[in-house]
Amino acid sequence: MKIGILISERGSNMTAIIEAVQKGQVPNSEVAVVISDKAGAEGLQKAKERNIETLVVARKRRTREEHDAEIVAELKKRNVELVCLAGYMRLLSRDFVRAFPDRILNIHPSLLPAFKGLDAQQQAIEYGVKFSGCTVHFVDEDLDHGAIVAQKMVEVRDDDTPETLAARILKHEHSLYVEAIAKILEGKIKIVGRRVVSVTN
Ligand code: GRF
Repeated sequence: MKIGILISERGSNMTAIIEAVQKGQVPNSEVAVVISDKAGAEGLQKAKERNIETLVVARKRRTREEHDAEIVAELKKRNVELVCLAGYMRLLSRDFVRAFPDRILNIHPSLLPAFKGLDAQQQAIEYGVKFSGCTVHFVDEDLDHGAIVAQKMVEVRDDDTPETLAARILKHEHSLYVEAIAKILEGKIKIVGRRVVSVTN
């Protein structure tokens, strides 16, 4: 199964996925390409160092649809079957989502459906929740909305800043994302309506 990863910035989740695949922790898989919409994304260098093909598909002055069509074409050209968003800072168009039905994943640094969108860790602190965490979910046409594959809860401490909470959540993001991908590729889960449930034989 060929995996394509989309990033915009740092790429620590991307690195975790690449390393897990290269160590054989995600069976029968290969990261075929890392695509960034930003030429300066730190993650591009990290992917190159790990011998993964990288590509910049800049937004330029194009519509979301035009930009997405180019990314979809690059993914399809490489026979990518699973798309992992890893800090990709742009909503996907309807056509992108439809090009990979139930085959696009995202990771978000909160326990969805709480705190969608940007600065989720800051939102959690400001709201005053005692626990937050991270969520791996399928991507649909709405922001941070698709069916939830896996979640991990993390404590919010009294002295947390958005940065300290983000760092505590991030450690769990890496393992949660890799485990979710492995489960999907091993056929261990199925989607029933909005619910992602274990396949029992
Ligand atoms: C992570 O916190 C992820 O949950 C969110 O964006 C951040 C990306 O970090 N979607 P990185 O680029 O994977 O280091």
